[in-house]
Amino acid sequence: ATVFVLNGPNLNLLGLREPEIYGSDTLDDIAGMLEDRARELGLEVDVRQSNHEGHLIDWLHEASASKARAVLLNAGAYTHTSVAIHDAIKSIKVPVIEVHLSNPHTREAFRHKSYVGMAAKGSVAGFGANSYIVALEAAARL
Ligand code: DQA
Repeated sequence: ATVFVLNGPNLNLLGLREPEIYGSDTLDDIAGMLEDRARELGLEVDVRQSNHEGHLIDWLHEASASKARAVLLNAGAYTHTSVAIHDAIKSIKVPVIEVHLSNPHTREAFRHKSYVGMAAKGSVAGFGANSYIVALEAAARL
């Protein structure tokens, strides 16, 4: 079974981008960690990143069409703005797990609202790269 790991805007810059908040691991590093853990769990991961809202929506539809086990979604700042991503999550039966490196609730007020979280099965935030690993373990148990 395949778990889609979808990453939104600016996450291509992980490792360089505000490392005091997001850590020094790059998205490739996180993808490697996920592949290793997925193998142990008997899963496969398909890790993608886009800075474009519509790509994330197309990939949510693709996860559904291809009968993915689950989607881990770090929508970046679209988390806090995108009704369209909220609706896409609601439109599919595949469980979506919200993921964040940082804990948005401890940060600026504009990060406290999550359109992704309001539609997701559950959320993991605040554990840096390990947020993705914990979310993958949750997906394996669904
Ligand atoms: C983030 C948190 C968001 O508020 C922010 O816009 C990001 C990264 C995280 O993983 O901590 O781009 O999703």
